[in-house]
Amino acid sequence: MDVRPITRDEFPVAIGVFNRAMGFPPASESYLETWTPAFHPERSLCAFEGEQLVGNVYSYLFELTLPGNTQLDVAGVTAVGVLPTHKRRGIITELKTRQLRDAKQRGEAAAILIASESVIYGRFGYGVSSYVVDVELETRFGAYRSGVADPGGRVVFVDEAAADKIFPDVHDRWRKQQPGAIPRTDEWWQGVRNDRKPGAHAHVVYESDDGEVEGYLRYEVRPKWDAGLASHSVAEHDFVTMTPRARQALWRHVLDVDLVRAVHMGGQPVDDPIRWWLANPRAMKVTRYGDFFWTRILDVTRCIEARRYSFDTELVIEIDDAIFPENSGRYAVAIDGGSASCSRTDKAADLSMPVASLGSLFLGGVTASNLARGGQIRELSDGALARCDAAFSSNVQPWSATWF
Ligand SMILES: CC(C)(COP(=O)(O)OP(=O)(O)OC[C@H]1O[C@@H](n2cnc3c(N)ncnc32)[C@H](O)[C@@H]1OP(=O)(O)O)[C@@H](O)C(=O)NCCC(=O)NCCS
Repeated sequence: MDVRPITRDEFPVAIGVFNRAMGFPPASESYLETWTPAFHPERSLCAFEGEQLVGNVYSYLFELTLPGNTQLDVAGVTAVGVLPTHKRRGIITELKTRQLRDAKQRGEAAAILIASESVIYGRFGYGVSSYVVDVELETRFGAYRSGVADPGGRVVFVDEAAADKIFPDVHDRWRKQQPGAIPRTDEWWQGVRNDRKPGAHAHVVYESDDGEVEGYLRYEVRPKWDAGLASHSVAEHDFVTMTPRARQALWRHVLDVDLVRAVHMGGQPVDDPIRWWLANPRAMKVTRYGDFFWTRILDVTRCIEARRYSFDTELVIEIDDAIFPENSGRYAVAIDGGSASCSRTDKAADLSMPVASLGSLFLGGVTASNLARGGQIRELSDGALARCDAAFSSNVQPWSATWF
């Protein structure tokens, strides 16, 4: 089996293998037109049997927002696929391991991905680091409780041309203040335009009283008549808000669309404050609570020093990394004023964990105590878990509005 990066000319074949592996239809012409120029051959890695491309991995370079709203360049791993005729022969193990090593050598401190199945990536040192929820809310239960303050401002419909200008700007301002968020490239937005059926989606923005756009929502109304009774539903496609008042106003907007029986939102933040506005919060059904980003720490020191912390303390953390033994060992973490310094140490460890657990802690969406209860972290000195919980916790749960 030959393993090598591919050329730009081979990109369509590699995407074909990925789409075949995923059960997706072949890439459209517009997809290839948009993404081929943006393809970085040096970030690809493919397996060949003779002339045939049989396995593929790729990674983007993303600026990931961390707790404390600092940013870190990470590898955004994608297009992982092996032809069904060649699976379970170790191809992805070879490609993934080399891909991680290449990213580490390029100086990328971590890798992130979204997994098709949760059984695949733990063995490569990835830990779940953020979650999302799908929710369904019947509009008859959509009233806010009395006493919820009027958000002010206004919700305005915009046309597609205006949305194409406004949405990318709002998303880019938002993702810098949201732990777990990544940027969207021009190609990402072009993909939205490519897939769009003109007029099929509604685009609304929330403008505060001083005229600032603080959020947007793209949605579709799916009409249904049931024995003459309107039973439409709203399907959300993109919902990004920079302030609670923008979120409150845009939720109110979709809950109040006439003829609509239910609102469906997919891939939403687990700590959406809608629960606290609804008079009947239980009526908001969570139809999925699922893992979203998985994080693989490649450079322990840089990752620990890159984010901010909620509690000043000192901890010695022992890391076990089976793929990169040079990462294994004890790290002294000293947090002062919310910033950490991290260095190798011979001191006794307070906590011991596989590198995947550090990946889970990294974005503040999973607590050390919870991982310990699940057998993923060992506490070696009393109180260390509680101090780790306090330090790594984030006042907002990590979330990305962006798939890749
Ligand atoms: C998932 C996929 C990439 C794995 O590739 P592969 O070349 O078969 O993987 P490997 O042979 O290197 O397997 C490595 C190990 O992972 C296990 N594994 C891999 N994929 C698995 C899966 N989907 N379910 C259960 N176990 C899996 C293998 O059994 C093997 O375990 P072992 O080391 O204990 O024997 C491939 O099957 C595929 O393309 N699947 C469909 C597309 C997809 O889901 N891609 C991932 C997108 S995020």
